[in-house]
Amino acid sequence: MIIQPRVRGFICLTAHPEGALQNVKSQIDYVKSKGEIKNGPKKVLVIGASTGFGLSSRISAAFGSGAATVGVFFEKAPSEGKLATAGWYNSAAFEKEAAAAGLYAKSINGDAFSDEIKQQTIELIKKDLGQVDLVIYSLASPRRTHPKTGVAYASVLKPIGEAFTNKTVDFHTGVVSDISIQPVDKDEDIQNTIAVMGGEDWKFWIEDLKNAGVLADGVKTVAYSYIGPELTFPIYRNGTIGQAKNDLEGSVTAINDMLKDLNGISYVSVNKALVTQSSSAIPVVPLYISLLYKVMKEKGIHEGTIEQMQRLFADRLYTENGEVLLDDKGRIRIDDWEMREDVQKEVAALWETISTENLGEISDIEGYRKEFFQLFGFDVPGIDYEKDTNEVVNIPSIEG
Ligand code: NAI
Repeated sequence: MIIQPRVRGFICLTAHPEGALQNVKSQIDYVKSKGEIKNGPKKVLVIGASTGFGLSSRISAAFGSGAATVGVFFEKAPSEGKLATAGWYNSAAFEKEAAAAGLYAKSINGDAFSDEIKQQTIELIKKDLGQVDLVIYSLASPRRTHPKTGVAYASVLKPIGEAFTNKTVDFHTGVVSDISIQPVDKDEDIQNTIAVMGGEDWKFWIEDLKNAGVLADGVKTVAYSYIGPELTFPIYRNGTIGQAKNDLEGSVTAINDMLKDLNGISYVSVNKALVTQSSSAIPVVPLYISLLYKVMKEKGIHEGTIEQMQRLFADRLYTENGEVLLDDKGRIRIDDWEMREDVQKEVAALWETISTENLGEISDIEGYRKEFFQLFGFDVPGIDYEKDTNEVVNIPSIEG
């Protein structure tokens, strides 16, 4: 079929398998160009492996240090005349490239919050790998059904205490306007957001994996967080999602306790703001990212998910002397370039003047749009979007 982008708000309803393959290949090429990650992981479980930071983590582990990978994600499979989601095509592409490189790669498609998918994953690890030495936790989801109680939680993206008014952009039309977001009116919404995006599920995973004996001695586990600039604090770090991130970061202590007798350790890595399916859903943030991209590109320090994850592996998690650089709260900071004083100062100054009229000139809205479409395999150089394309692309380990 001829596959073109079909956008509704911050979601693209279609995805292009050949564009996805090209994206995955570009990420692989980048990782290879940086050379081998010495002392890198060898057997890796990535939870949330099909898009964004999780996909790039999987690629960094596989092509940076030759790791066998198991990826867990929740994506829609294709059928005749019906497209799959982007993460499906990405994972099909990843497995294809991994197989060509002689690397073990298998995937599990289903609800990672459920006990059933955890058990399936454990069985797969037992059967094929025995144990894993790295577990990446990179889920981003608007809802979670609790595996023990069956309660379905929905997260909200709201400020706490008072309404938040600031600029935002519709990145399709380029219109910059003020948006007022009312604060949460019930504590329940905060608790629900924590239930979805907080640390409980990460703890459940590690507990189950450990009890099943599939974590290797010296195992590491990493989950991802975000802090960002003051201008997004009311909607991000001090908002409902920020409470969930506090909870996630707080679970490191409990997980470290669980892993003590395995000489294992858990980390939270604070990553850079990037265009992903999740971040484009947060008001104000896309405008901030457009300015951030402009400033960081001008300074030659722009990174996408793959550059971030390759640096996380090579310069933080698997350094030659084994030391892991942490901030005063015990977190890995791979958002260090985003948070640099000169970068933040320039973004803040641009923020004051940004408007619909000067958007194209002082922000990288074009770069934002391009990356948004590329998440779905569109706007990828070298792909002919007028060409009839096979939409039924299987993930070998799932379909085969
Ligand atoms: P994303 O939306 O690109 O990826 C989410 C992944 O989770 C996908 O693989 C998806 O299939 C999987 N997933 C969602 N619900 C699932 C379920 N129920 N069962 C199994 N898999 C499921 O998200 P992104 O942006 O890469 O986020 C990953 C983590 O990184 C999140 O914790 C996010 O808060 C964090 N982060 C994101 C930043 C950004 O700017 N995008 C910045 C810093 C941290």
